[in-house]
Amino acid sequence: MKTENSEQLFNRAMEVLVEGCSSASRGPMNYKPFPPYMREGKGARIWDVDGNEFIDWQLSFGCLPMGHSHPKIVEIVQEKVAGGTHFATALEVEVETAELMVNMLPHVDKVRFANTGTEACMTGVRMARGITGKRKVLKFEGHYHGWYDGLLVSTNPQPISTLGHPNDPIRIPDSSGLTPGSLEDTLVCVWNDEVALERMLATHGHEIACLVMEGAMSNMGVIPPKPGYLKRAQELCRAYNVLFYLDETVTGFRVAPGGAAELYDLQPDIVTFGKALGQGFPVAAIAGPDHIMESIEYGKVLHYGSHNAPRLGLYAAKTMLEEMSRDNFAGFHKITAIGEQMTKRLNQVARDTGQNMRVQNVGSMFHPVFTDLDAITGYREFCAAADLAKYADFSQKMRDQGVFFSGNKILHNLSCTEHTQADIDTSIEAAGNALEQMARD
Ligand SMILES: Cc1ncc(COP(=O)(O)O)c(C=O)c1O
Repeated sequence: MKTENSEQLFNRAMEVLVEGCSSASRGPMNYKPFPPYMREGKGARIWDVDGNEFIDWQLSFGCLPMGHSHPKIVEIVQEKVAGGTHFATALEVEVETAELMVNMLPHVDKVRFANTGTEACMTGVRMARGITGKRKVLKFEGHYHGWYDGLLVSTNPQPISTLGHPNDPIRIPDSSGLTPGSLEDTLVCVWNDEVALERMLATHGHEIACLVMEGAMSNMGVIPPKPGYLKRAQELCRAYNVLFYLDETVTGFRVAPGGAAELYDLQPDIVTFGKALGQGFPVAAIAGPDHIMESIEYGKVLHYGSHNAPRLGLYAAKTMLEEMSRDNFAGFHKITAIGEQMTKRLNQVARDTGQNMRVQNVGSMFHPVFTDLDAITGYREFCAAADLAKYADFSQKMRDQGVFFSGNKILHNLSCTEHTQADIDTSIEAAGNALEQMARD
């Protein structure tokens, strides 16, 4: 594999960009000694500046349910860009996209558009505080909700000996520069354990504005909820008068047309979307029932943003929702079937090669974890028993064969509507080669 052009760009980049790029996840932290600089993407393929071609399973961290430069997206964006990009006024496409979303989401009456998941989550938390008059937020260890101060607690894998007792997890700030207040107001609980959650709510419910969570953990590989757990969490929130906030930034418009709320039959009070919604453009949304969403009317809880409801992004979002929903949601069924097939076959290859790779998935989201456990059901198991160095080796060996698995060791891989059976077969063959080579190394 040629890498001269990426190396040259990296050397130039290091003069003007921190870590040679704009997010640590894309740089040498995950791609050693320098990252591949991408030039182009089409369907499920990407090409770097050295002309290397990859089957893409990272898919822009989940932002591309229809793959790269889908003809329908290219067509609508090309048509609309000539008419202007930004008016800072209300837009017809904003209404149309919100109507589509409300039709797909029975728990949602109203939508407010933002740009990124982080902003949406920040707004969701502020709304919860405004509505309830309570200050604290309860989140789970290992759940990531963007890089807003108030939620940047206990989101990374840590040595198990640093996590404290599961009944009272130590809150671990994930950045310098957080104020004591953001740590103080953010309570942390272990996930997938209803007894722990009830204990926490019984003790602190009177001061907790909302319980925020991912419907399935997607930032610690993929960890599905135990059967009935999410419904019980919702029930407990209602019992303790705490708003139930489902962060669907990853799962929304991906694990089902109605996201994790549909998959697990939930009626969250607050929902946030991002990633898949914009089909590659920065579009996010906060959504919920009328009595919750009225809180961001002017004069109550503030939500602003020069770039809210980006015009071209909304055309992409509208087109994605229409296309994925066509023929009884065939697009959603297709990405799920591909994710299921990848999961099953990767697990088979692991067994065939005698490697301790376990692949877990929720629909189209899947992730290989190297572990001696039969399954990972929570953050602490992931911290204690996931061999991240082995995943890094595996994903590098996949990329060396032209199959782009996430370079970030704790994120997940995904399918899109454009992956073909040949892409799947080629990727499985590459996984077999990688695992055999790892057994020999
Ligand atoms: C569940 C979840 N919420 C929020 C975010 C933040 O979204 P963004 O990166 O668009 O700010 C992420 C990003 O990975 C996420 O996984």
